[in-house]
Amino acid sequence: RFLRWTYRLTVLGLLGGTGYLGYRIYLLRHPEEQVEPDPSKKTLVILGSGWGSVSLLKKLDTENYNVVVISPRNFFLFTPLLPSCTTGLIEHRSIMEPIRNILRHKKATVKFYEAEATKIDYEKRLVYISDDSEIKGDVSHTVVPFDMLVVGVGAENATFGIPGVREHSCFLKEVGDAQKIRKRIMDCVETASFKDQTEEEVKRLLHMVVVGGGPTGVEFAGELQDFFEEDLRKWIPGIQDNFHVTLVEALPNILPMFSKQLIEYTESSFKEEKITIRTKTMVKKVTDKYIEAEVTKPDGTKELEKIPYGLLVWATGNAVRNVVKDLMSQIPAQKNSRRGLAVNEFLVVNGTENIWAVGDCAITNYAPTAQVASQEGAFLARLFNTMAKTEALEEELKKLSVAQQEAKNDEARNEIFAEIKERQRQLRRTKQIGPFQYSHQGSLAYIGKERAVADISWVSGNIASGGTMTYLFWRSAYLSMVFSARNRILVATDWIKAKIFGRDVSRE
Ligand code: FAD
Ligand code: NAI
Repeated sequence: RFLRWTYRLTVLGLLGGTGYLGYRIYLLRHPEEQVEPDPSKKTLVILGSGWGSVSLLKKLDTENYNVVVISPRNFFLFTPLLPSCTTGLIEHRSIMEPIRNILRHKKATVKFYEAEATKIDYEKRLVYISDDSEIKGDVSHTVVPFDMLVVGVGAENATFGIPGVREHSCFLKEVGDAQKIRKRIMDCVETASFKDQTEEEVKRLLHMVVVGGGPTGVEFAGELQDFFEEDLRKWIPGIQDNFHVTLVEALPNILPMFSKQLIEYTESSFKEEKITIRTKTMVKKVTDKYIEAEVTKPDGTKELEKIPYGLLVWATGNAVRNVVKDLMSQIPAQKNSRRGLAVNEFLVVNGTENIWAVGDCAITNYAPTAQVASQEGAFLARLFNTMAKTEALEEELKKLSVAQQEAKNDEARNEIFAEIKERQRQLRRTKQIGPFQYSHQGSLAYIGKERAVADISWVSGNIASGGTMTYLFWRSAYLSMVFSARNRILVATDWIKAKIFGRDVSRE
């Protein structure tokens, strides 16, 4: 009897789950009619379609403003899974969500321009935009006026002006970067297998060097070694003696944002995986075939060393974008700011009253992470929704006080008075939005060989864990966090595909 009931409940649960998923997919495929925004309302321009801007858009009541989104990328990218795209474990489209889908599900229409903001004129309240895509119409440069502006353009790759970096290395920030790396890995492998290749050249071509021991560099090194162990060495056994991954870091250790215990765990895990870590090694110059690095020896002396490579991935953190630098130069209060736009506790850009900044382009007390950017975006949505409600209530109060003065008798006057009291109470409650407060959920990173490290914030403090269970947690956490049900299904399918058939080693 117990089994019968369990069976019935399981079937019911499955049917319910499938029905709910089907309903969600139906809603996704059939968006409702949108209302046209009121042209008399303020124009809110949002720059970027990354973590900060999309999190703002998700929670923003778009009927309160004339919302315009400008980004050279017409999709949102789930960056935490980008390193997996470099080896084909995950296909890049599985972690992209079209901005058009996101905007089409808002109550009121939002305008989107696929363009780069080249300049923000703070005084004139104008954004200059340029269509940098391949196909251009008669107009490819224009201006967009704003009443309110949110800058969420992220950051660019830091190169510290080191010669040769831009020309010879691959970055890992955008979809195009991951595709380029995927192609180059296979190019190095096939070129190393070319007839009569010298031994020295084979070694160079199969030396995969990653510069930067932050989480980007570590995750990529782990993914690449997995690719070699699980697929490459099986399909191309000839490369197995020479394929080698080296992680180069200027500081004495990698992953500085993680606890000491997890740094040691990662280092020992890399040793086991046969990934070489070169700490206290600062790259000074890059050529097409080798990097030149200053190595600090145990006795403190320094030595220049040439390290040949086939593939070079450069992951040394963030730098400020030109459009942000230019905006900073127009605002005297930003004079001492170096790493991005200095903002106050409501994310208003210091020295302005109608410009906000979110994510990697804003300087706060927090690390430039997706977690911070998305919480900032959600905070701004609450702030803007509140501002709109406040303005509407204030407008109503003005009208009510005129009506009160013009009321014909005491009864009508008292009625309006009661309404005014209610509106004032609502206004007080609405205005109670405090400053932005970041809630740190913890740091997670994949380190290869089905292991991950996690520093998780818990009620009683931090929990540091590393290993296969943490990896399962990492996978389920990211699977639940990807943007949509569509992304979730695609990522899960990619993982299953790679487990069954292996990664695709063709060079597109
Ligand atoms: P982005 O998400 O970079 O978005 C910027 C947007 O602005 C993009 O749409 C871009 O096209 C657009 N843009 C650029 N220039 C212009 C312009 N001139 N005009 C208009 N639009 C413009 N963080 C975590 O917390 N956890 C992780 O696991 C994690 N993994 C990561 C893995 C990788 C490989 C990388 C590169 C980063 C990772 N991060 C992670 C960091 C995280 O991705 C960033 O902190 C986050 O993307 C910052 O969000 P953002 O909105 O500021 O910028
Ligand atoms: P990072 O700034 O965290 O690390 C860059 C590393 O490069 C530093 O350790 C630095 O010492 C090193 N470096 C700089 N110049 C060098 C040189 N010339 N030679 C050798 N080493 C050099 O950069 P990363 O990893 O790109 O991350 C950027 C941001 O994104 C960080 O805030 C990070 O927390 C976040 N992120 C988070 C992830 C996660 O939580 N899993 C994954 C990826 C990024």
